[in-house]
Amino acid sequence: QTSKSYKCWLQYDAVVNQQRKEEYSVIAKVISKQLDSPAADAAAAELKMAFESMLGIHAEVKHEKPEAGVLLSIAESADYLTDEGFEIKKEGSRLLITGKTDKGLLYGAFHLLRGMQTGEPLAKIEGIQNPANPLRMINQWDNIDGSIERGYAGASIFYENNEFTKDLGRIQDYARLLASVGINGVSINNVNVHKIETDMITSVLLPDVAKIADIFRQYGIRLFLSVNFASPIELGDLKTADPLEESVRQWWKNKAEEVYTYIPDFGGFVVKADSEHRPGPFTYGRNHADGSNMLAEALAPFGGLVIWRCFVYNCMQDWRDRKTDRARAAYDHFEPLDGQFLDNVILQIKNGPMDFQVREPVTPLFGAMPKTNQVIEFQVTQEYTGQQRHLCYLVPQWKEVLNFDTYAKGKGSAVKQVVDGSMYEYKHSGIAAVSNIGNDENWTGHTLAQANFYGYGRLTWNPELSSEDIAKEWISQTFGPDESMQQVISHMLHDSWPIYESYTAPLGVGWMVNPEHHYGPNVDGYEYSVWGTYHFADCNGIGVDRTIESGTGYTSQYFKENERYYNSIDTCPDNLLLFFHHVPYTHVLKSGETVIQHIYNTHFEGADEAANLVETWCSLKDRIDPQRFDAVLKRLEEQAEHSKQWRDRINTYFYRKSGIEDKQKRTIY
Ligand code: GCU
Repeated sequence: QTSKSYKCWLQYDAVVNQQRKEEYSVIAKVISKQLDSPAADAAAAELKMAFESMLGIHAEVKHEKPEAGVLLSIAESADYLTDEGFEIKKEGSRLLITGKTDKGLLYGAFHLLRGMQTGEPLAKIEGIQNPANPLRMINQWDNIDGSIERGYAGASIFYENNEFTKDLGRIQDYARLLASVGINGVSINNVNVHKIETDMITSVLLPDVAKIADIFRQYGIRLFLSVNFASPIELGDLKTADPLEESVRQWWKNKAEEVYTYIPDFGGFVVKADSEHRPGPFTYGRNHADGSNMLAEALAPFGGLVIWRCFVYNCMQDWRDRKTDRARAAYDHFEPLDGQFLDNVILQIKNGPMDFQVREPVTPLFGAMPKTNQVIEFQVTQEYTGQQRHLCYLVPQWKEVLNFDTYAKGKGSAVKQVVDGSMYEYKHSGIAAVSNIGNDENWTGHTLAQANFYGYGRLTWNPELSSEDIAKEWISQTFGPDESMQQVISHMLHDSWPIYESYTAPLGVGWMVNPEHHYGPNVDGYEYSVWGTYHFADCNGIGVDRTIESGTGYTSQYFKENERYYNSIDTCPDNLLLFFHHVPYTHVLKSGETVIQHIYNTHFEGADEAANLVETWCSLKDRIDPQRFDAVLKRLEEQAEHSKQWRDRINTYFYRKSGIEDKQKRTIY
């Protein structure tokens, strides 16, 4: 496939700037590669393909050093590089890409191509780079029947009709996209491991899994599998999955050994246990350290990791119960276990304490476990942020989270320093996220949602990149060099999260969506359900009291500075007010508006702004190819229409509950 929408940001369009073309052409005639390895070969192949389409040059790939050309070489002793870092340096007519390992070569090659696609002179492409986060991971929530849990871009590219796909070319293209933004780990099956997928760790499916691992290996990406904690039972071997039973421990040891005979560099297991009805150690009266350590012990001899998710909460709550607070759950379950986990266990913690809402505070567990490896989990797939039918550029949200000061070691203890491993010198750490891709022609359903895929990867490599710079890189590689077009798209992206937030759930309250599929407005959709996700709106007010004095005490899970900040209604920021406090509709916000008037205003304004996105996009009609232009236009039109539903449902609900008129007398039903 060669359509522009399929190629995402790896367009490799012909270079039009003559000066750049000449400069690049000097180094593009020969690609010298002093070693043979899958990743070095992939780097050379990518450069060759790109030089051909960008410059019309058919580069030779050689072993010996040329007078002029790109030189890919390994410098094992380069102490300024990590195993995945690279240096790019110009020496006369040669461009040296140096890595400590072949992975560095791959990242260096993609860095060069990013620079060339964005029209940088070689002098600006030169430099040394090391990734900030050791683990930079993507989680596929793909099922073997071809469906994707929370997938909004078609079916799985990995599976079809309960079998592995035969289209390995598409998987290779996915690996190229991932590697180009620095991703180095992928788990290929849903965290909810169903019946057939349980066999992915047996001889039934391991040969297929190994083929996929071979493809990812070429691109520096380790393959992980989500596993079923009850596998020893499910696969018919044992009567128990008790992590302290010797037979169970031995079973997992044998299992690990078997997996590694198929995939020698297997990454490890991703585990969702005791979460939303998945089996786990609680069944046997054991805790999460017992459960994860058992798997860690089995994987340790082979260098494997256990990525153990902290999404553990009571999903059978009684809505009448005002004491239990789902937001508290991860901290309550895991913080007391600090120090008990083996060093190849990593806890994977969602960015917020609830579940990827459009606005949530940061999970208080970050920084609270000095002796336990942590990875943060983001959701690139837009489950609660418009399902890739609405535009919602999430890089600003992720940056806000990564920059959040936990105060774990006093001022200046940002989440990004926890997860990059520097704050507590973790052995393993990093960033993971749920993928947003499927087999749609454009991978992500909404073409502009490719920016989230791109931006996520770039942030894992370097969280210091600004959201604007990431957008600019992405737009210019994806749509070309026209600067005024780039600015228009960048504005649309940066306006999109605030717009989506404004016409959906107000002031951090969350959850006003239709149950199950989570698309579209439904204020009481989750109000009387078992999921622990309530807003408590009545005729007087709304919000969840999570304070220490009168509420659930969730605020006490933060370090003192943040505890005080959120616990006091005087300092709690407007955008999270209803997450932390229950207030009357007449409560006056820091903005000067009352809560009810804020709800009305933002919902009217948000829907207007969604309509403006359509207008703005239309101004680009002649500057974007028709296929992508039309595809985006359709989605934006749908968003504009749907935002009116949101506006009217939410406004009407609160008008009827509160009986308070809109000061501006706009139409409310
Ligand atoms: C959310 C999502 C589920 C998913 C779960 C998880 O609740 O709606 O589909 O399985 O998160 O992260 O495990």
